[in-house]
Amino acid sequence: MTTAPMPFIDLATQYEALRTRIGERMQRVLDHGQYIMGPEVRELEERLAAYTGARHCVTVSSGTEALLVSLMALGLQPGDEVITTPFTFAATAEAIALLGGRPVFVDIQPDTCNIDPSLIEARVTSRTRAILPVGLYGQVADMDEINEIAHRHGLAVVEDGAQSFGATYRGRLSGHLATFGCTSFFPSKPLGCYGDGGALFTDDDELAQACREIRVHGQSARYTHTRVGVGGRMDTLQCAVVLAKLERFDWELQRRREIGARYRALLAAEGVEMPALRPDREGVWAQFTVFVDDRAAVQTALQARGIPTAVHYPVPLHRQPAYAAFAEPGDCPHSLAAGERVMSLPMSADLSPEQQDRVVEALLDALRDRSA
Ligand SMILES: Cc1ncc(COP(=O)(O)O)c(C=O)c1O
Repeated sequence: MTTAPMPFIDLATQYEALRTRIGERMQRVLDHGQYIMGPEVRELEERLAAYTGARHCVTVSSGTEALLVSLMALGLQPGDEVITTPFTFAATAEAIALLGGRPVFVDIQPDTCNIDPSLIEARVTSRTRAILPVGLYGQVADMDEINEIAHRHGLAVVEDGAQSFGATYRGRLSGHLATFGCTSFFPSKPLGCYGDGGALFTDDDELAQACREIRVHGQSARYTHTRVGVGGRMDTLQCAVVLAKLERFDWELQRRREIGARYRALLAAEGVEMPALRPDREGVWAQFTVFVDDRAAVQTALQARGIPTAVHYPVPLHRQPAYAAFAEPGDCPHSLAAGERVMSLPMSADLSPEQQDRVVEALLDALRDRSA
């Protein structure tokens, strides 16, 4: 039995496959020297807008910045409320709080771990400005229900698609499902660069223009600052990396889906619990996550066999010190319960069937040992 360590996300094999194209793309930037807002920025924005079907794509310096710039363009004011999920990475609520807004945490559906739309309407107040759902693990939330509630109350919807770029929902793509779609090109994301990067998408011309200005310190023209902005541009070099990776992206998505389906078939046959998949959407497996009891012991057993795991996320945001002030008594029991049981397994487009068999075997052994 091999116990050689395997990567949680295999970016090395991906790089080997794309080495020439990435090198050429980066060399071109070094040759023309437009490191900031060079031609690759526009090229990537055009490619991604066409990919998602959105009218506008604005690249920014990270997924967090995409959320922040979107909320700034919507004019979020101190004291405004944004309804979101606590079972997510901190960046989701951070963008709201940074602007003086109040994240209003609504619990998740215990099966998908995405925000439960049936709980949203009761939390709408006169201060609510937007709803901010997350496509956790790469599966989009119930966007039609969420958009309908937003429409009834005149709210914007900002989709946090940091984990779901490439995912579909009723035939439409993540990023193009709401007022704004935001995504991240953090290296480990399904479409990643080699540093920080992100993008936002919208069909609204005015909001897109506002975002383009906000990303460059609120400038409508050089040294004409018409609004307060940020230094939020994505580097030309990082755009070049994403352009190169896009050439393999559809193949990678297909592989991720095959690997995800194979994991599920092998684990479901042995009674392992996993987040539910909705039949009207196809995820991208940003993470492959299972539910386990006695998680720390299972993680230790897997680690001993060279298999890394991760927890997304152990403590929901309403129980984090920075966000506890936004919690309500008795808030979000399903998020708390999920935080104790979720565990993510190695996942990437280049995970081989042999590696996957090793993961499955080690997990099943660990679970059997626990129940023995
Ligand atoms: C759900 C979610 N939102 C936002 C972000 C922030 O993206 P970035 O790391 O590019 O700022 C992440 C990234 O980890 C994420 O998973």
